[in-house]
Amino acid sequence: YLTSSLMSPVYQVTASAPVNIACIKYWGKRDTTLILPTNSSLSVTLSQDNLRSTTTSRSSSSFEKTRLWLNGVEEVIKPGARLDRCLAELRRMRKENVEDKDPSVPKLSTWNLHIASYNNFPTAAGLASSASGFAALTASVAALYGLNAFPQHPSSSYSPPADASQLSLIARQGSGSACRSLFGGFVAWEMGKDSNGRDSLAIQVAPESHWPSLHALICVVNSGKKGTSSTAGMQETVLTSELLKSRIKDVVPSRMSSITQAILAKDFDSFAKITMQDSNQFHAVCLDTFPPIFYLNDVSRAIIAIITELNRVSVEATGHLVAAYTFDAGPNAVIYTESENIKTIIQLLLNYFPIDFAASPFNDSFQLFGVGHPSAAPFPKGFNENVSRVWEKDSIKGLIHTKIGDGPRVLGEEESLLNVEGIPK
Ligand code: DP6
Repeated sequence: YLTSSLMSPVYQVTASAPVNIACIKYWGKRDTTLILPTNSSLSVTLSQDNLRSTTTSRSSSSFEKTRLWLNGVEEVIKPGARLDRCLAELRRMRKENVEDKDPSVPKLSTWNLHIASYNNFPTAAGLASSASGFAALTASVAALYGLNAFPQHPSSSYSPPADASQLSLIARQGSGSACRSLFGGFVAWEMGKDSNGRDSLAIQVAPESHWPSLHALICVVNSGKKGTSSTAGMQETVLTSELLKSRIKDVVPSRMSSITQAILAKDFDSFAKITMQDSNQFHAVCLDTFPPIFYLNDVSRAIIAIITELNRVSVEATGHLVAAYTFDAGPNAVIYTESENIKTIIQLLLNYFPIDFAASPFNDSFQLFGVGHPSAAPFPKGFNENVSRVWEKDSIKGLIHTKIGDGPRVLGEEESLLNVEGIPK
């Protein structure tokens, strides 16, 4: 990770990290500083070919202070706040694991950093960027500090470094869900018991290669207003919801083990049922918060009704579910399904949600539609069309088709976000 510019060495690494969408939701902290959750959670990592955060970190003895740019805009680094704490942890690991063991290495832990981070998806899409962002930051600084090696991209076979779970402890302190973005595939965040948080970490349940046909369709829902942040909302729930108590004590522990079994057996029916039930319960504890928090809107509920009806006719015809919806702290739907069903689901949704694809082009990454935009198709046999009305144009303002993907990647020099002076390009 050392490149030479003119005379002096440049210590810099660029890394990218994926978005993850939980099937068992994290909602509630028992420690808000260390970010220790009230329950374990489990997610699917989405492909970085479609959605990713990229971060370049450079360390230099000539930098006067540590600076951070997000999508080109400089952010203030508040002492003691989340980012500052992540960087302090990484410096400590650099010192203890590398510099104290080998006095000949440069003392990067004492130098300032310039960090630039970029999301390839617009914040306006309403997709959370904190998970991929803190994961990319952790991966790039860790590689810069010689703490690990996430695979270089492109690589033919991806396997996470041995200490990815240790690094997840750091990403967790940036944003809870970020710890799960340090692995590809299916990832559990084990809540742990210790008050110091050392056992509250992410582990890989199964790699992406275990179930490569698992795809996701993200429906970006028009919402207009900015809702309650996850951080604020979940603490209101912890303080006021009675329902959360049984969720923490009984519901999540049993779902964590049953969804893990479903994943290992590639049992889509069980995986889908638990995923939908857990999304529903997460939004139920939001309603049970006082005053209540609403993340789903009428469009989200219409998507639930349509997927439910699709599953009903499918169970009738084949005995199997075809799709699972899940919603985070906003109205966007993520629909998990086997790759072969994505086209049908898009064509079904377009009967209810006309989309102006000229304004928000569909990334037909898997070439389902050939030339031209996707369009509606006749309803499946026996489908009750009346489960939803037909919505105004662009009530769903975009669709993103992606699949399960790998963990953080170290990128080449040419992907650097910083120029020679260490300022965003
Ligand atoms: C609904 O990880 O964004 O997406 O730890 O306060 O940064 P902080 O919260 P965050 O919460 C994510 C909540 C969720 C569920 C999930 O991803 O598990």
